[in-house]
Amino acid sequence: GLLFAGQALAGAITPEQYQKVVDEAYAKFKGVKDGANADYIPILAKVPSDMFGIALVTRDGKVYAAGEQQYEFSIQSVSKPFTASLIMAEQGPAAIRKKIGVEPTGLPFNSKMALELYPARSVNPLVNAGAIAAVSMVEADSEEDRWNKVYNNIQAFAARDLQVLEEVYESEMSEVWGNRAIANLLYNYGRLYADPEESLRVYTRQCSIGINTRDLGIMGATLANEGVNPITNKKLLDKEDVPELLAIMATAGFYDESGEWMYRSGLPAKTGVGGGIVAVVPGKFAIATFSPPLNEAGNSVRGLKAINHIAGELGVGLY
Ligand code: DON
Repeated sequence: GLLFAGQALAGAITPEQYQKVVDEAYAKFKGVKDGANADYIPILAKVPSDMFGIALVTRDGKVYAAGEQQYEFSIQSVSKPFTASLIMAEQGPAAIRKKIGVEPTGLPFNSKMALELYPARSVNPLVNAGAIAAVSMVEADSEEDRWNKVYNNIQAFAARDLQVLEEVYESEMSEVWGNRAIANLLYNYGRLYADPEESLRVYTRQCSIGINTRDLGIMGATLANEGVNPITNKKLLDKEDVPELLAIMATAGFYDESGEWMYRSGLPAKTGVGGGIVAVVPGKFAIATFSPPLNEAGNSVRGLKAINHIAGELGVGLY
């Protein structure tokens, strides 16, 4: 059976135990055929659906991996907590709460209705509206400056130079009507803090950054390590601000499936339509997964099963 908080494996988890549970999760869910690639960004439909990778990265940077580790997939919404982190680092967590909001919407990630229901907030930095608002909050004196700050921050979390997947960017921009509507609505409500088209471009480019499974594990491990990247030892977020960010991930990281996710895994996490998920065990490690087929809420099916399995077996759910 599964272990829950308070029943964690006695003492420190050994390297063998980490590797064993990662291998088990890979073997157990590799054959799962449920879900489908995102196709509202046309090019994502062409990513091979059978790819599946897991990387568990500890707060001191040790990597326990199984499956696909090379393929560079688009980060998509998994970028959102990291740009929220940038805003927190620049302006403090209170700025996010005041200028964006921290309530989960209970609605799909691209909801326009959420903005109409709650025009006083935009609504949290992990849905499209709040993430476009976060990009617009970056202190910048030009579009290039705004982009460089967003891009450099994500590269700092991954601890290496990353490329933008230009085809993904072009593909999403060719069908970006919904997010354009969101940017315009936000602007109309005084909840966007830069030009709507500029914010939309920088946001979409942010979502098109290519990362592999291991990169995502290292990004998450930085949050597990109180905001210090375990590879470069660079402090990217104040230790005091990490809990606020993880709290938003806990309540909104899985969109309208966040309650179900928290109920089952007990971990703050973030998913993206490129097939990535990262979950954080504060003070210990992060689990990153990559697998393109998504469920109805837009969350990677193999990924969420694998993370639930690993968290359950290691007994690291927070509750
Ligand atoms: O804005 C979008 O729709 C995409 N660039 C990102 C959405 C996303 O990843 C939602 N995740 N489940």
